[in-house]
Amino acid sequence: MIEIAGLSKTFGSGASAFTALKDINVTIQENEFFTLLGPSGCGKTTLLRSIAGFVDPSTGTLTINGEDILSKPPFARPVNTVFQNYALFPHMTVAENIGFGLEMQDRPKAEIKSVVGDMLELVQMTQMADRMTSQISGGQQQRVALARALAPKPEVLLLDEPLSALDFKLRKEMQIELKRLQAETGITFVFVTHDQEEALTMSDRIAVMNAGRILQIGGPKDIYDHPAERFVADFIGDTNFVDGEVKKVAGETAQVQLQSGKVIKARNVAGGATSGPVTVAVRPEHADLSAPGGLIDGTLKNIIYFGTDTHYHVQTDDGSTFVIRRQNQPDAVEAHEVGEKVGVTFNAGVAQILRD
Ligand SMILES: Nc1ncnc2c1ncn2[C@@H]1O[C@H](COP(=O)(O)OP(=O)(O)OP(=O)(O)O)[C@@H](O)[C@H]1O
Ligand SMILES: [Mg+2]
Repeated sequence: MIEIAGLSKTFGSGASAFTALKDINVTIQENEFFTLLGPSGCGKTTLLRSIAGFVDPSTGTLTINGEDILSKPPFARPVNTVFQNYALFPHMTVAENIGFGLEMQDRPKAEIKSVVGDMLELVQMTQMADRMTSQISGGQQQRVALARALAPKPEVLLLDEPLSALDFKLRKEMQIELKRLQAETGITFVFVTHDQEEALTMSDRIAVMNAGRILQIGGPKDIYDHPAERFVADFIGDTNFVDGEVKKVAGETAQVQLQSGKVIKARNVAGGATSGPVTVAVRPEHADLSAPGGLIDGTLKNIIYFGTDTHYHVQTDDGSTFVIRRQNQPDAVEAHEVGEKVGVTFNAGVAQILRD
């Protein structure tokens, strides 16, 4: 539905030029919950504003439903935006803010009243319909901004960190609410966040960004289980990085010799190294402790109890640290102790060769 190709954006010129987006290529499907995830300053808002029409890209194309939209002003694009700073009209009531887009479209009064009523209910703000937006809390303002953007039923809704002002509990509630809303309305969501957990739980697909580039696009499980690059593996969840050397590659599988001399089967991504030294990533919950003589051997340095699980820090014989995470069972007795010689094991295929 949204096709972005070869898009880049350079702000300023000469010595002060700064390239915020570099060769962005992405296709977003109809009715998809698509998330842009990355650290502060990586270009998420700039990409969103390019789609909305508030940033003029330096190169590239952008179509919605096959139609070039770069030549169209923001109001003529089939999108609506919930801005990072929500930008409500302070001199209007909650209800007037929500109805604003419909007023602009000259829709009949009765229709506006009914849609605004539905939206107020949706974001649980019916009681506050007649308050000025300067008289409500930050979280309430965020919900009004969301309702205002949804009211005209745009084809695409762009959301820039729309839940950032909410407390933990309300944030969790609104995550579920937003997901439900998206499924019910059939609107395509392009959602921006720097919160990896939020991205994993809400999205159909995620684009992981860093320094103006998209590094990887995939479903939450794909991104988490099969990060292609060191940055992605590091940014999303916790990861062990293990050095090794590629011995043989057969399609998506590679044999990698670890520094311990043991050879493991690792997953090899397209474009990954086919020989020589590599880094493989192993998630802490995909590995386990064994007696010495594991894939990697070392000494148990730390046992940290987290309630839901326990983390074991192993100082490996080659001088790095490997973390293992085990889910706790009720009333289980801790079988390991600090200082103990241990092995680290993991199954074939859970290790992932990183492209770096
Ligand atoms: N108008 C501008 N002129 C010059 N540089 C800009 C402009 N707008 C953004 N930038 C720069 O472009 C980079 C990307 O900014 P952007 O707002 O897209 O980041 P972001 O990923 O949304 O970050 P955050 O998570 O902090 O909101 C930043 O380094 C920013 O300083
Ligand atoms: Mg931003």
